[in-house]
Amino acid sequence: MECSWKTVLLLVCASLGLQYTAIRSLQDLFPGPCQDSGHCQGRVGKNHRWKFSCDDNFVPAERSSASARKHILLFAQTRSGSSFTGQLFNQHPEIFYVFEPLYHVQQTFTNSSSRLRRVLDSRALLGAYRDLLLNLYTCDLTFLENYIRPEPQDHVTASFFRRSSSHALCSPPVCQEGGGEIQAGQPDETWCPKKCRTLNLTLASMACQARSHIAIKTVRIPQVGDLRTLSEDPRLDLRIVHLVRDPRAILASRMTAFADQFRAWKIWNATDRQPRYVDLSQITRTCRDMEYSVETGLQRPAWLRRRYLLVRYEDLALNPEDKAKEIYRFLGLNIGSRVLTWISQNTNATAPSSTEWNYKYSTSRDSKATAHNWRQRLGFDIVKTVQTLCNTTFALLGYKLVQSEAELRDLTNSLVEPRTF
Ligand SMILES: *[C@@H]1O[C@H](CO)[C@@H](O)[C@H](O)[C@H]1NC(C)=O
Ligand SMILES: *[C@@H]1O[C@H](CO)[C@@H](O)[C@H](O)[C@H]1NC(C)=O
Ligand SMILES: *[C@@H]1O[C@H](CO)[C@@H](O)[C@H](O)[C@H]1NC(C)=O
Ligand SMILES: *[C@@H]1O[C@H](CO)[C@@H](O)[C@H](O)[C@H]1NC(C)=O
Ligand SMILES: *[C@@H]1O[C@H](CO)[C@@H](O)[C@H](O)[C@H]1NC(C)=O
Repeated sequence: MECSWKTVLLLVCASLGLQYTAIRSLQDLFPGPCQDSGHCQGRVGKNHRWKFSCDDNFVPAERSSASARKHILLFAQTRSGSSFTGQLFNQHPEIFYVFEPLYHVQQTFTNSSSRLRRVLDSRALLGAYRDLLLNLYTCDLTFLENYIRPEPQDHVTASFFRRSSSHALCSPPVCQEGGGEIQAGQPDETWCPKKCRTLNLTLASMACQARSHIAIKTVRIPQVGDLRTLSEDPRLDLRIVHLVRDPRAILASRMTAFADQFRAWKIWNATDRQPRYVDLSQITRTCRDMEYSVETGLQRPAWLRRRYLLVRYEDLALNPEDKAKEIYRFLGLNIGSRVLTWISQNTNATAPSSTEWNYKYSTSRDSKATAHNWRQRLGFDIVKTVQTLCNTTFALLGYKLVQSEAELRDLTNSLVEPRTF
């Protein structure tokens, strides 16, 4: 059997519940000899068991305790400052960083036929997310191919989501071009999409293996509890960096970045009167997910011991170097000079720099100012509503509520209570 089973089989398997939980019980089968063609990395065995990683360079952690490979997850929500925070990993020469690979899974699921979609619940989607994360953590990028559209040919694709957010995917040996730009310190985003052209996923896997650690950023896992199976997996040394941000700031940022989706909110913002058809469910869900995750994390269950760090984006923006050092201490890694240089060049508006990061996902040069500029950009009536919807989240994370517009706009009065979690 060639590896032509592809998406439909994947989806069906997921719907049958043959997901990550099932895989976990198969650890004893792992690593097994590949019974099919050597490059096959996923198939359903005769007991409806899911085997994977036949193309096996992967050694389970328990058998190679000498390896101190860290599997870092930047666990965040849309517009919570995760692009900026991800750079703290992306800039590290020993870390292979991938920016939101789960995008491809979600696209495949939402594009599948409505009949299939009906049998797929969100649990199945989560199972697919976790499967993919596990495979990526083993540097098996070919597993991702099942989800990339159009389908990669000969393990080569031009459709890797936000490839230029991964420094390793823009530098040799994955991309030979661009040496000059890298030397000049140009951000990958400005030249990588033009110069690097298609991505050879085999080379990308090799680049992943060549680095000591791997970090993945995702905004698509709802709650930290959804990561328990990965966290307990003895083959991984998972480190969850949970990034949170003031929900009012998240909302203001989403209104700007996704203007089409937020038309009603824009009207609300401009008039200070809530349109009847405005959809409050997204921000409510964001707050609830944040709250449940933080509660789980701070209860320090055994499965998260030494594996969970809560980071408020505002603390990072205000004090990037200290906070970054704290994150690296948590990871047990040396922060290194390249990350520190990047921080000093990108969090200091007055520092001279030849680079402009001027696009939707840009990580702003002046993190201190941007972390709080939502306070100038959000109508007070919206602020009041979000404060009501999310009141427990605010209390839990130490974000102060405002009672008046004057209090909202007065930037000398910080809305971030000092906290250590
Ligand atoms: C999803 O379907 C739309 C419309 O058919 C298409 O334009 C888009 O490229 C598809 N996306 C993926 C990831 O398959
Ligand atoms: C991708 O890279 C691998 C490893 O260097 C190489 O063997 C393969 O031929 C490349 N694929 C294409 C289509 O160039
Ligand atoms: C910011 O840049 C200016 C000018 O290069 C420099 O004097 C200052 O020390 C920098 N501040 C920080 C926090 O790096
Ligand atoms: C809200 O409205 C103000 C002006 O009333 C405007 O300056 C600001 O950019 C708007 N905010 C967003 C997020 O659209
Ligand atoms: C949040 O609001 C609810 C309903 O108004 C209230 O019962 C609860 O005490 C509030 N929680 C906090 C932490 O303020």
